[in-house]
Amino acid sequence: MPDYSLRIRRYSPETGEAPYWQEFGIELDGHRSVLDGILQARDREDGSIGIRCSCRAAICGSCGVRINGRPGLACHMHLNQAAASSRDGTITIEPMGNMPVLKDLITDMDAVHWKKIRRVTPWLLPDGDPPEREYIVPKESMVDVTQSMACIQCGACVSDCLSMEVDPEFIGPAALAKAYRFVGDPRDGQQFERLKDLSEDPHGIYDCTHCFNCIEACPKGVAPMSQIMRLRRIAGADHHIDDANNGHRHEQAFVSLVKQGGLLHEAELLPRSYAGDSWFAKFKPKAAAELVDSLPVITKAVMRGKVSPASALMGHKITDHKNLRRIFDTIEDKDERFELNLYIVQPDDEVPDDKAPAGDAHGAAGSSSPERSPNA
Ligand code: FES
Repeated sequence: MPDYSLRIRRYSPETGEAPYWQEFGIELDGHRSVLDGILQARDREDGSIGIRCSCRAAICGSCGVRINGRPGLACHMHLNQAAASSRDGTITIEPMGNMPVLKDLITDMDAVHWKKIRRVTPWLLPDGDPPEREYIVPKESMVDVTQSMACIQCGACVSDCLSMEVDPEFIGPAALAKAYRFVGDPRDGQQFERLKDLSEDPHGIYDCTHCFNCIEACPKGVAPMSQIMRLRRIAGADHHIDDANNGHRHEQAFVSLVKQGGLLHEAELLPRSYAGDSWFAKFKPKAAAELVDSLPVITKAVMRGKVSPASALMGHKITDHKNLRRIFDTIEDKDERFELNLYIVQPDDEVPDDKAPAGDAHGAAGSSSPERSPNA
């Protein structure tokens, strides 16, 4: 009687057959990894099962697959955990998403993942002549980039990226986290050029829709979406890059609406995204055209009682506006932006008093760049 059963998605393009599922019984203790299970099935039952792996210790990133529908490292998931999280006790294993399948569980990382990584110029571009010896960088200035440096390029975030599903040209979470690794590096001399490029690209930093999937998928806590938001903050607030995609102005429109009424006012969002807070923004040709375009949807929503004509036109407002203002004032009064980095953790007694972030309740060290302008 096998201890566990695996349902593996099989596919060999050269046979011309459609993908199919195959089940294998596994005799292993529950603390052994899903990768061990796949390798046992390959050794004992079918030597043609395709799986890529190397370190078997969650370091090399090559064994990325989907386990029970969620992306992760096969070597980093115990069989008993995987069985407990499956619907019927059988562990389902399939190749990662958003990438073409070469064979069984092996995806073509070159066609998608590595191509996108190359897109962001993943190396330092320092200004001027190199120093005689090594670059000396203050430790604290590297805290910002440590999180993105932890990436092992497994592709789990790419696999689950909803934006990439809709727009396969989206540069994507892994490559943009990599971009932040160089944008945030004090030795790099092309910060503005990199950000300008990533902002103006219609598939760049403003193509992310905040779905959080990449944060949940990452087995190393890199939080790619947070790195994308950092790129946006530096591009918009520090370098004032007003991109042709309207991404920065769209973000500003969200902030100004929430600051004004505490809630989003969708009818106002569009014109503000195009032309700022002015009342005349509605008559900006592009904004007016899109407003007219969205009229059928708004009319349908009003007819079905989802919104009232008054709330569609005037929006909602919260009553406790004083507390809301206080939040904005607290953020806007700060001399510099404080980036909380939850990745670097050290016991409180190792944090010097003058470095300990105020109000830090989790033992997480924060970081901020002195040269950055104040903003949230
Ligand atoms: Fe290296 Fe799994 S085999 S991360």
